[in-house]
Amino acid sequence: MKKAFLTILTIILLGGIIRADEGMWIPALLQRNEAEMQAMGMKITADDIYSINHSSMKDAVVLFGGGCTGEIVSEQGLLLTNHHCGYGWIQKHSTIEHDYLTDGFWAMTPEEELACPGLTAIMLKNMVDVTDRVLENITDETSDEERAVIIKKHIKSIIEEAQKDTEYELSVESFYLGNQYFLMYNEVFKDVRMVGAPPSNIGKFGGDTDNWVWPRHTGDFSIFRIYVGKDGKPAEYSEDNVPYKPDYHFTISLKGVEKDDFTFVFGYPARTNEYLPSVAVNQEANVIYPVVVDLRTQILDIYNKYQERDPKVRIQYASKHAGLGNGWKKWMGVIEGIRSFKGIEKKKAFEEAYINWCQETRARMKYMHALRDFDTVYAEYEKYRMATTYLTEAGLSIELLDFAANFAKLAEVTKGTPQEEIDELINDLRQTSVAFFKDYYQPIDEEVAVKMLKVYIEEQPANFRPTILNDIETNYNGEVQDYVKYLFAKSILTSEEKVNKLLDEFKVSKAKKLAKDPAVVAVNSMMDFYVENVMPKSRECNNRINNLRRVYMEGQMKMIPEVFPERNLYPDANFTLRVTYGKVGGFKPKDAVTYRHYTTLDGIMEKEDPNIYDYVVTDRLHELYDKKDFGRYADKDGTMHVAFIAGNHTTGGNSGSPILNAEGQLLGLNFDRTWEGTMSDLVYDPSICKNISVDIRYVLFLIDKYAGCTRLIDEMTIVE
Ligand code: ARG
Ligand code: GLU
Repeated sequence: MKKAFLTILTIILLGGIIRADEGMWIPALLQRNEAEMQAMGMKITADDIYSINHSSMKDAVVLFGGGCTGEIVSEQGLLLTNHHCGYGWIQKHSTIEHDYLTDGFWAMTPEEELACPGLTAIMLKNMVDVTDRVLENITDETSDEERAVIIKKHIKSIIEEAQKDTEYELSVESFYLGNQYFLMYNEVFKDVRMVGAPPSNIGKFGGDTDNWVWPRHTGDFSIFRIYVGKDGKPAEYSEDNVPYKPDYHFTISLKGVEKDDFTFVFGYPARTNEYLPSVAVNQEANVIYPVVVDLRTQILDIYNKYQERDPKVRIQYASKHAGLGNGWKKWMGVIEGIRSFKGIEKKKAFEEAYINWCQETRARMKYMHALRDFDTVYAEYEKYRMATTYLTEAGLSIELLDFAANFAKLAEVTKGTPQEEIDELINDLRQTSVAFFKDYYQPIDEEVAVKMLKVYIEEQPANFRPTILNDIETNYNGEVQDYVKYLFAKSILTSEEKVNKLLDEFKVSKAKKLAKDPAVVAVNSMMDFYVENVMPKSRECNNRINNLRRVYMEGQMKMIPEVFPERNLYPDANFTLRVTYGKVGGFKPKDAVTYRHYTTLDGIMEKEDPNIYDYVVTDRLHELYDKKDFGRYADKDGTMHVAFIAGNHTTGGNSGSPILNAEGQLLGLNFDRTWEGTMSDLVYDPSICKNISVDIRYVLFLIDKYAGCTRLIDEMTIVE
């Protein structure tokens, strides 16, 4: 009977999403997927992947630098991740004289491996379901506020108690939006050193032009090594530290992939929102993203113009450009994907089935109300989200203001402020300002400021603008250029010399003057506006949304197994370790177009264009290509395979994740998704959602043949 409620349309629309490729699975519960994985071709067991009783693959996967994934590939703690994950570190170690971004970096001896203070590698050692304890004493009658207090208290005591018996770092993480909780045991490595990186025209080949796009030819890898104290335990950087001996390291396969091969990806996906109501998906994809895309287009145009003119500016703005450009392009893909693959319609069809299910019994009414209540909250939330979007994407994209925000505290010190506090502030500011001026180019920033303040004023109503913007109307007759001229001319924060002088000679009596610096005034005005007029409302909406989402999730967790028993539930990504699996294969992005599942070095030579920065090929790579000097890394077809795609459900944070074959051997490094499928964070469609990996054979070819860093090859375990 239940199914009779479904309209034909619903069945057609939902039919597509019930497929095995979708899902990011909790490693501790992987037994549930084992049969399916084996049926798809896997030859190992769930226990080989995750076990707390013996060493397993989980002991070779780390959260790299807090935002990416890395995997250990030798007995001496050698770590692989993406070039774009190591990028910030490669840049930090680069100067005009030693330009590792352009030329690459290879530590030919252990002594040449470079310390990266602040870089961590975090390894999950155990996870335990503590849902019952976290949710103890919570009933349907508990108010949302009480609930939050109780949960916080329970989590605190769970961690305190467990901490008595372990040295690992502990945290309790929420899954299914507050419907399940796990206690996580993490080992945190703090001495991670840079070992190698190809030049950017390999590691970032195709640059932002090819980013998110298939076919792809990026050698997106970099190499690091974990060091530990002499006792084998994590330690802060010290010259005396030694390479880490892991419990497990991945074996590397030189066999490559064939269409339909089973693969799985093991890593740290950051955030997905697969269980949102249609109204939220609509707001995301059709209201907020278009604004962000438009603002970033304008900023990136300015960056491009100056970067093309001056090689120094190119380096200075490389990382900033990549950062802004990445989201910019992805969100364009999401907007397009949601439209063309009918994301909203699919959600609506699901909601119809859900409401029907809710109406079957009285007890389910709360689930129905949760879904219906979203409409009002999201309508209210939109204004505040938009205000936040303009503040962060327009206002704070002015680097001077973002920098000035760091000085706000110093501008507030008084006679009563303890001297140590002031010293600490000054110390921090010194570091911030060194980093800021190293990569600052004022003409870019001035142009960005004019553009961004103009749109900000045009697009946001007066009561949704910081005072400083309304002052431009009154004091400068609306002439944004005039205000910007004044801002940059009068602020001392555009000059490294003046900033140093301020910090060297700082006295409490100078705070007042600093507070009057036009950049400090401007950013304070923006922050005050946010704190007073946006944040409280935004928080309130967010709390309401989160509570509704928890109940809606609970409803879906009951409804889906009943109505769609073939559909497996998995929790949204939350920066915890996950396993996802799927088969190698191409796809059809649109009518008459079919994509093959792999690319080769031939494609790099086809794309080559010495006049386009993103498509420059070095002589060295040419030489190897012309001689077909691929060694044992060539495919059996004789070509050098560069990248491949498969149906693994991945997202941001999965960058650098190992992609493994049926035996659990390393095939490559995940680094991207196809543009057509970027909407998979909101709605997954197996026909177009594919993950992109760099072929490990290309990586080894570059380390071995291109760079001649054979000592690294020698320490790896490689099977032919
Ligand atoms: N799109 C990939 C990710 O989301 C790679 C980003 C870095 N590459 C780039 N060309 N910006 O992180
Ligand atoms: N490049 C992404 C990252 O940095 C992975 C691509 C994706 O979002 O799937 O994590």
